[in-house]
Amino acid sequence: AVVGESLHHEAAALHVTGQALYTDDLVGRTGDVLHAHPVQVRAAHALVTRLDVSPAYDVPGVVRVLTAADVPGVNDAGVKHDEPLFPTEVMYHGHAVCWVLGETLEAARRGAAAVVVEHSELPSLVTVEEAIEAGSFQGAQPTLARGDSAAGLARATHVFEGVTTCAGQEHFYLETHSSLAYVDENGQIFVQSSTQHPTETQEIVAHVLGLSSHHVTVQCLRMGGGFGGKEMQPHGLAAVAALGATLTGRPVRLRLSRAQDMTMTGKRHGFHATWRVGFDDDGLLTGLEATLTSDGGWSLDLSEPVLSRALCHVENAYWIPDITVHGRIAKTNKTSQTAFRGFGGPQGMLVIEDIIGRCAPVLGIAPAELRRRNFYVEGQATPYGQVVRHPHRLADAWDQVTETASLDARRAQVDEWNAAHPHRKRGLAITPVKFGISFNFTAFNQAGALVHVYKDGSVLINHGGTEMGQGLHTKMLQVAATALGVPMSKVRLAPTRTDKVPNTSATAASSASDLNGGAVKNACDQIIERLAPVRAALLADGKPDASWEEVVSAAYFARVQLWAAGYFATPGLSWDPAAVRGTPFKYFAYGVAAAEVEVDGFTGAYATRRVDIVHDVGDSLSPLIDIGQIEGGFVQGVGWLTLEDLRWDESDGPGRGRLTTDSASTYKLPSFSEMPTELNVALLERAHEDGVVYGSKAVGEPPLMLAFSVREALRDACGAFGPRGRPVELAAPATPEAVYWALSAARDAL
Ligand code: MTE
Ligand code: MOS
Repeated sequence: AVVGESLHHEAAALHVTGQALYTDDLVGRTGDVLHAHPVQVRAAHALVTRLDVSPAYDVPGVVRVLTAADVPGVNDAGVKHDEPLFPTEVMYHGHAVCWVLGETLEAARRGAAAVVVEHSELPSLVTVEEAIEAGSFQGAQPTLARGDSAAGLARATHVFEGVTTCAGQEHFYLETHSSLAYVDENGQIFVQSSTQHPTETQEIVAHVLGLSSHHVTVQCLRMGGGFGGKEMQPHGLAAVAALGATLTGRPVRLRLSRAQDMTMTGKRHGFHATWRVGFDDDGLLTGLEATLTSDGGWSLDLSEPVLSRALCHVENAYWIPDITVHGRIAKTNKTSQTAFRGFGGPQGMLVIEDIIGRCAPVLGIAPAELRRRNFYVEGQATPYGQVVRHPHRLADAWDQVTETASLDARRAQVDEWNAAHPHRKRGLAITPVKFGISFNFTAFNQAGALVHVYKDGSVLINHGGTEMGQGLHTKMLQVAATALGVPMSKVRLAPTRTDKVPNTSATAASSASDLNGGAVKNACDQIIERLAPVRAALLADGKPDASWEEVVSAAYFARVQLWAAGYFATPGLSWDPAAVRGTPFKYFAYGVAAAEVEVDGFTGAYATRRVDIVHDVGDSLSPLIDIGQIEGGFVQGVGWLTLEDLRWDESDGPGRGRLTTDSASTYKLPSFSEMPTELNVALLERAHEDGVVYGSKAVGEPPLMLAFSVREALRDACGAFGPRGRPVELAAPATPEAVYWALSAARDAL
């Protein structure tokens, strides 16, 4: 079987030699292309009082300015119909009000600069605290509840309360948003787009153009990273390119510069949480009451499902008998915050991990012990009512990390080292991840595939998922080769496009290999079933050793259909978003990480000395790919929790609302120097998952949350500068500056 083999990424050689084609590379293969440039308004919130595009036409090379008046269909790019594509109200600093098409990008840029936009400023809300104060919310305000949280807190012998906040995160995919649209020889609108959700891009393009879906085809070759940032955000950009193409009859290329991408497109939601928590004398959680407010930015986008997932992960791996958690979405004058790896799960989990990290010293229980004591056990259910299956796998992973990383011995070493070093301290922490797999929204848990076997025995597969570097296509090739019983060299994969597999879900929620793998396998199984009588006939003819090619050829001449459409829908799911109840997940993915850090007491600068991870991917479809996902997810989580620091201008000056960290020089991403000196990743063994393709589990998002171990290790180190038994408050992100404030507070308490 090819499934389970450690193969490199199917396009690895193309990636590293620069030969892999991305959307914008296709511009060079397309003649007569026009380039699009936005007209961004520099105000946090304002009404456009006059828009005069005529000066742009005086700029040489400007071909067309696109405005609201040009839209034949609906002037809206959001699935919630709250995102005018060409707005008259500027909702955030950098909002694009119209687009200029030029013979060159430079002509379009100069044309955009010539457009006159007059506006009158309106009051703006930039921070989530300002929005809370002003009562500025959008969308549903669901409440997750089980039992009687007041009684749970009353029963507690220790009650704590606090506020926990976390920042958002810029996706910083290497490839910025990109679309290339043209009208093809068939009158079809054809859009190449860097999109995780080709079907929704198709739908938005169609409704902006006033067309039906069958007039529009969207293709995604591959993305240079998506990370959730290309789940909703590409649609409007693709629509602008498609509108330009229909109006000019020429291909239109729209590719955002890094600064445009950072100032115009949505990011991870920052969250603000207030909480009250109770523990009994054994350190068991008795109750939790919390209010989670996400910073949604100017429009809803995916804020509601992101909030749902935050609520569904607020307890992470811990049994909390009585719980009430309110959720709401602040409406602020910022980019429209959106999906980002973990999709609200990390922000929800941060609440309980922060609580445990803060409360453990006061309870006098080691954080690792406090975490372990509160783990779910068999038979318990989450607050939303889903039974937690296989909780022992988490305990197994925990024990494995504890042992292989020699945590007990290293704890003693760290304490000894700290006692000898007054100005530098080491910290050690271990944290768990339990992450639900499937889209909360039940209908999205379906997928299609198209598998062709040609007469020569070669195989071409299409499926509904998109490739963004996560190795989905590699896994799908492995699934097809295994299901058909042919070598990988017989199978090719064609780019994702909406005219091959329709009505697809976003490649998101980590579930693309579960869903599309199920669909590919289903198609292959149908073909194998049809080939069975052909094989039997060959056997009867005395040809028991007929090759795949011979069987296929015989099948063709016997008029047996050699291609199949496959389909998969995850069974057993239910979800009521208003009640926040149901069984939204097929299963949980588990993981455990232990981290050791060293912190400098003068500057707050730190280094990660060692990280040990055991992660549960079921029976891995592709171990090398999975380990890559675990490492990459972990590092991206470390970025979010310890380095990346989005700053908006919160002053009342003219720059109010401006994203001041709009480039790699001001926005600190993880790089080699922040990597752990030692990083050990192991896959949890004996972890077969029933009912998922070849017993595998999803891997894309859960490892991001392994990074909590690093933040908790930093907290541990900060605490070591001060007296025992004192809670350490540490900001998220725990940048060196934040670490410095935390350790200073600890030192001051001496
Ligand atoms: N890995 C790479 N290299 N690039 C990406 O953009 N996106 C992540 C994850 N891993 C991403 C990635 C996110 S947000 C998700 S939801 C999953 O991949 C989506 O793909 P999957 O369902 O195939 O895991
Ligand atoms: Mo991933 S945030 O579900 O695209």
